[in-house]
Amino acid sequence: MSLDHLLSVSDFEQAAKKVLPRCVYGYVRGGTEDEQSLRANRLTFEDIGFLPRGLNIVDKRELSTELWGHKYSMPLGIAPTGLAGLVRHDCDLELARAAKQANVPFVISGSSSVPLEKLQLETTDNWYQAYFPGDRVRISRIIERLNAAKIQVLVVTIDTCVAANRENNARVDFTIPFRMTPRLLLDGILHPRWTLGVFLKTLYASGIPRFANLYEEIGPPITEEPAHGFRTGRDRLSWDDMIWLREQWKGRLVLKGIMHPHDASRAEKLGADGIIVSNHGGRQLDGTIAPLAALPAIIEAVSEAFPVMIDGGFRRGTDVLKAIAFGARLVFVGRATLYGAAVGGEAGVGRVLSILAAELDRDMALLGCAQLFEVTKALLRTRSVIAL
Ligand SMILES: Cc1cc2nc3c(=O)[nH]c(=O)nc-3n(C[C@H](O)[C@H](O)[C@H](O)COP(=O)(O)O)c2cc1C
Repeated sequence: MSLDHLLSVSDFEQAAKKVLPRCVYGYVRGGTEDEQSLRANRLTFEDIGFLPRGLNIVDKRELSTELWGHKYSMPLGIAPTGLAGLVRHDCDLELARAAKQANVPFVISGSSSVPLEKLQLETTDNWYQAYFPGDRVRISRIIERLNAAKIQVLVVTIDTCVAANRENNARVDFTIPFRMTPRLLLDGILHPRWTLGVFLKTLYASGIPRFANLYEEIGPPITEEPAHGFRTGRDRLSWDDMIWLREQWKGRLVLKGIMHPHDASRAEKLGADGIIVSNHGGRQLDGTIAPLAALPAIIEAVSEAFPVMIDGGFRRGTDVLKAIAFGARLVFVGRATLYGAAVGGEAGVGRVLSILAAELDRDMALLGCAQLFEVTKALLRTRSVIAL
């Protein structure tokens, strides 16, 4: 299928909506409760506008960015997304391959279903996102697994201490552990391409998908509760555990889900190598401000060299440039590349990344910048303020 007629991330979302069953599309698109956080993520981009500069020489533009000595082709990466295997057969592998091809980071989700030992062979530089249980003995065992798999960057998600209230999933019978219901069956029948190409293909190739990377061992099928439960005391995790973790983990350590400037500063002080400012794509606490709105105070709270990354609602090159202007080093996308995978697998993910790269390149020129470091706050204004 040609992907050339899909011109933007939003085109991919519309196309994904057609091929995915309602419950899977709802799982990917949705937020929590009244979806205030989800909406804020997009709306905040509209609150901020550019003041472009003209007649700057911009013929030699450079999108590449450096992080911990690694040069990526652009300031973009693929965020961890659990249960991606519902969107596409072996989706995690296709995301990883497309990221490697584009030379951008891909973060293996702790809730993914292709074993990380297989997945990390396909990634650029081995990022893994953990949902750690509240038990140091078990964390130590997970760390052993990560070391054996040569994971280099450990991303600890800190915004998921308890399960989110995803009413939209419950309304369409989408639960974890996954249970087949008549409504889901009908959803599948109405989406034969997905039923054949994802559901039955996966069952035939490898059986029911598993929680392969949540804990120290390959977990059970997604139709069963893991032996130790899903969250196993995650609500007991504290900053002391992160200080302890810093001593145990010798690789790069990133905390994901930081929204408060004090937490950003704490992360830096305990020796983390970076943070991801995130409200989990509006999928955890409802009613948060957007990560973009949280970013300026966080940049103020940490030292200049400390890598601050961000995700949440990024769909356009201009969105990415706004975060870069506020001082973000790298922007992650979650849903955008899942929509790419749903429509066209690895090629679809690649096309989404190349659309974003082309937008970034064009938008930088139109803004009057040839280098990312020239994209600064001086080029931004709050839209509602008219200076007289
Ligand atoms: C379907 C889906 C699954 C997700 N699973 C995880 C996960 O396993 N771990 C995690 O830290 N974040 C997870 N997230 C959040 C993303 O990492 C990221 O924060 C968010 O998607 C960014 O917002 P965006 O989708 O608007 O780009 C998930 C998001 C989606 C959409």
